[in-house]
Amino acid sequence: MKFTLAIASLASLAIAAPQGSYGNGGGFCLSQSCAENLVNRYAAVVAGQASDIGGPVRTARQIIAANFEEQSDSANQQIGRPLGALTVASKQAFIIESQASPPVFLDTQAIFFTCNQINWRWVSTNFGNGAYQVQGIHNFEVNGNGKITQVNFEFNSFAGALDNGYTIFYPNGTQYGQ
Ligand SMILES: *[C@@H]1O[C@H](CO)[C@@H](O)[C@H](O)[C@H]1NC(C)=O
Repeated sequence: MKFTLAIASLASLAIAAPQGSYGNGGGFCLSQSCAENLVNRYAAVVAGQASDIGGPVRTARQIIAANFEEQSDSANQQIGRPLGALTVASKQAFIIESQASPPVFLDTQAIFFTCNQINWRWVSTNFGNGAYQVQGIHNFEVNGNGKITQVNFEFNSFAGALDNGYTIFYPNGTQYGQ
């Protein structure tokens, strides 16, 4: 148990970057490795896989802030939620829903970051039935403890819908892909 706790606190130290001169008010500033670690850990959680911290639930508990929110109209529309609504309203909901949903494997194309924000561009080649690649972008807001407070993401929901078995018709009546 002590050993586990030591590993957990080492992992959070790894995220506590050197003091920056600007940022989100706490003197916190993401480094390249902190930004990459957060993205890799979040990606592991949504893939239902272990990260360097441990299993996906342990990882999610560590990287997600208590006041977490996630918003995506690309996702809302596919799951039947109103446009503009929160997609995930709490840390606990994120942990439960991310592990209950089918795993998604998002391959990093690029990571950009400021002291307290990360932009992550990704591609997935095995979304749903994997017939069409899906590209997307996540924006993360990170607090002074290096935890994610807010995620806004959008993706190619046209390709995602096709991968999830939707049939799409052009306005002229031709079915997409036929
Ligand atoms: C219908 O529209 C699509 C998209 O513009 C086009 O690719 C397709 O060739 C059109 N089909 C017909 C029969 O005109």
